[in-house]
Amino acid sequence: IAKGSAVDETDMRADLEKVLIPEEELQDKIRELAAQIDADYAGREILLVGVLKGAVMVMADLARALHAPISMDWMAVSSYGSGTQSSGVVRILKDLDADIMGRHVLIVEDIIDSGLTLHWLMSNLESRGPASLEVCTLLRKPDAAKIEVDVKYVGFDIPNEFVIGYGLDYDERYRNLPFVGTLAPHVYGGSGEQEG
Ligand code: XMP
Ligand code: MG
Repeated sequence: IAKGSAVDETDMRADLEKVLIPEEELQDKIRELAAQIDADYAGREILLVGVLKGAVMVMADLARALHAPISMDWMAVSSYGSGTQSSGVVRILKDLDADIMGRHVLIVEDIIDSGLTLHWLMSNLESRGPASLEVCTLLRKPDAAKIEVDVKYVGFDIPNEFVIGYGLDYDERYRNLPFVGTLAPHVYGGSGEQEG
């Protein structure tokens, strides 16, 4: 929360417990990841596949930090689970627009929690015959991993707590916070299907 900013009960920032990763650290990390990706792909065209909706902010900032030629496509998946837990049972809500056969595909994710959604997504995309398939995620929760996933680019490893902001939501809110934080306990309640 910026110093001197007015926070009242109509401001979503009043629901925050703490800021985990400030805006500037996020932006520095994205630039660092982009430099690494540029070096690794050495000018080859990359197809960035963003996972809706959480990866929208990472995608927007990462894409602008890259110098490599890129195109963008999007997928929306939903994993069934209770409350904030993923089950690994995945449903495609929106598939890619184009064929990825022979393309260098880089999946762009906001967060890897259990890894179940990503594991499913990787085998799904792998079966479509890309030239290469890698993953870039801004956040990862190592203590929540239920399955090993090979992720080449990781922004931050974070503790196993529910986070919001910079694309991440609770009940579709807080995605527009420019930092990553946690919510005060009084905000929580309800359960159901979670959509990236
Ligand atoms: P896993 O890796 O468990 O994660 O299959 C599936 C999806 O769950 C969401 N997720 C979160 N969303 N804050 C969020 O806003 C979190 O802390 C969080 N942890 C998991 C996210 O959509 C992820 O892709
Ligand atoms: Mg979500």
